[in-house]
Amino acid sequence: MSIVLGIETSCDETGVGLVRDGVLLGDALASSMDEHVRFGGVVPEIAARAHVASLVPCVREAMAKAGAKPEHIGAIAVTAGPGLATALHVGVAAAKAYAAAWGVPLYGVHHLAGHAAADLLEHGALPARSVALIVSGGHTSLLAVGDLARDEVVHLSDTIDDAAGEAFDKVARIIGLPYPGGPSIDRAAREGDPNAIAFPRPLTGPRDPELGFSFSGLKTAVARWVERCESDGRPVPVPDVAASFQEAVADVLTSKAILACRRQGVDTLVVVGGVAANSRVRSLAEQRCAEAGITLRVPPMRLCTDNGAMIAAVGDLLVRAGAEPTGLHVSARPSVVLERAQLV
Ligand code: KG4
Ligand code: ZN
Repeated sequence: MSIVLGIETSCDETGVGLVRDGVLLGDALASSMDEHVRFGGVVPEIAARAHVASLVPCVREAMAKAGAKPEHIGAIAVTAGPGLATALHVGVAAAKAYAAAWGVPLYGVHHLAGHAAADLLEHGALPARSVALIVSGGHTSLLAVGDLARDEVVHLSDTIDDAAGEAFDKVARIIGLPYPGGPSIDRAAREGDPNAIAFPRPLTGPRDPELGFSFSGLKTAVARWVERCESDGRPVPVPDVAASFQEAVADVLTSKAILACRRQGVDTLVVVGGVAANSRVRSLAEQRCAEAGITLRVPPMRLCTDNGAMIAAVGDLLVRAGAEPTGLHVSARPSVVLERAQLV
């Protein structure tokens, strides 16, 4: 069985991973996050330049860790979308160069399928049917997942406005915590009371879509609460705001994910994407899945946020399923919706 080399450059992480037969052999990650902090968000041009600088060193590092040589690589998989166009182009161009130079097939991969596949590197093959809650900086979706390499992925719901990670990032900015907001809020919330402020649970009313997500109103509710506090001349209780906001997000995400499992009649929930690294999302998901008799699968923290191993994992599934390679014509597709793991 030959090794698949995966390349991920959709945002600010340059990720490379080597996977063979569902096993992660070696990986490397470089991040330009520090260069974006003073802008309060990812600057696409800066991210792209950082990918150019980091990509070849990451490939070398991942190959060295795996003890692999070019002749051991049987295929290349690359995130072709969605993501920042300038950032995606770097990974796609590099993947084509490696595929052409080494004479191996190239597979274009959907970034979100990569997030879902990350979990199999830790917990083994996914069951025949599962529900995936994908919660990242750009997406919040509940998906019915079958065989990732062969079946279409069915969207049960997608956020109608902000993604959960985006809400973490925006709320962090409102309460003066540094970018990226998710980890900052997670840390600040440890000192706070999650029941201090009753922030709204969006789209949980009787007439709302039962699996629907919306986080823009919650972010505005936090902003209004903080404004009122400041105009009254009271200090903003940052840990309480962080903990109460985090609780509202974790509550909505986990309750709807469990409902989705019930509606689909499946007993496995996979929670993936950057926000799956959140300590409260993880603990509440564990508690509620245990109560509902649902098996919860969450990848380890380092596989939750963007990385190359997850893209190699999808490539490995595609190779093993005998999928036709995408080929050297593959191009970056910044806004592509997840329908299939492979992008053609
Ligand atoms: O999946 P990811 O690395 O990149 C995208 O594909 O978007 O997700 C990044 C998002 C950011 O919004 C970041 O704030 C959030 O994941 N995030 C977290 C935590 N760690 C990262 N959100 C909440 N709690 C965390 N511990
Ligand atoms: Zn991601």
